[in-house]
Amino acid sequence: MKKTIAIIGMGNMGGAIYRRLCDSMPPEQILVCNRTRPVGIHTKSYFSSNINDLASRADCIILAVKPQSLDELIATLTTDLSKKIIISILAGTTLTTLQKKTGAKKIIRAMPNLPTQVGSGVTAWVATSFMSMKEKNFVKEIFNTFGYEIQLRSEAMITNVSVISGCGPAYFFTLIEMMSAAAQRLGFSAREAEKLATTTFLGSAKLFATGSKSAREWREAVTSKKGVTEAVLKYVKEKKVDTIFYQALKAGIQRSKKLSSS
Ligand SMILES: NC(=O)c1ccc[n+]([C@@H]2O[C@H](COP(=O)([O-])OP(=O)(O)OC[C@H]3O[C@@H](n4cnc5c(N)ncnc54)[C@H](OP(=O)(O)O)[C@@H]3O)[C@@H](O)[C@H]2O)c1
Repeated sequence: MKKTIAIIGMGNMGGAIYRRLCDSMPPEQILVCNRTRPVGIHTKSYFSSNINDLASRADCIILAVKPQSLDELIATLTTDLSKKIIISILAGTTLTTLQKKTGAKKIIRAMPNLPTQVGSGVTAWVATSFMSMKEKNFVKEIFNTFGYEIQLRSEAMITNVSVISGCGPAYFFTLIEMMSAAAQRLGFSAREAEKLATTTFLGSAKLFATGSKSAREWREAVTSKKGVTEAVLKYVKEKKVDTIFYQALKAGIQRSKKLSSS
């Protein structure tokens, strides 16, 4: 990547994005802005707590502050952003709001998820119509350093994707907690239960990552006719857990819509 990228807000997500970018471009092309100097920043990466200092030097600006910090940040902004590429990861902040508040035109609204920290994230994104194909390809290059990227057909789909890849890591961790709690009820110690649950899930994920079989094929490989797994999965099906899960996601969508409108 030849462009200069500034990250504004070096918290959990900004820090993760910085580390991913450092793996694929020279640190001197990455500028960082935070109220206080973050630890672990390469000596060749320029740091400033002044947004204008950074914004004037960068071709692309990644906004990674909390949504509630946006107004305070914008209040100090005097740099013309109309020719810069702005990538916002602020949850619930629409392209129209970003356009109005920053005066920028080339804006990407993106939703990365937590596994971005290890380069196995999912980033769903939409762009304003002012972005050229070349600029979108540049943005894709950035997102590819986070993991998988998907351009959404419309901004409305951000709400839907938020309950899939955005919240998704929490579902996985909940499953580990549920399996671990069940193992404890079945007589295992807390440590044994956690180890049994995590190793089973991580091992299955590793197996799946080989790409040799679909999820269904792997499930069938564990499920013998009239066997134990079949009995468990039959119960899950009878209780309509798939429907309950879908309804849970719909509840999340309602919540997301409410948060965006407030
Ligand atoms: N966490 C996730 O899984 C996730 C996933 C997708 C999207 N997001 C989005 O990512 C954004 C960041 O979330 P986070 O969890 O990384 O938040 P965070 O850890 O609180 O980080 C925010 C950072 O912004 C800095 N900051 C605030 N105001 C600033 C200003 N005026 N100038 C410079 N720096 C400023 C803060 O610095 P100080 O600490 O010095 O105030 C802090 O380091 C949010 O908008 C969130 O919606 C998060």
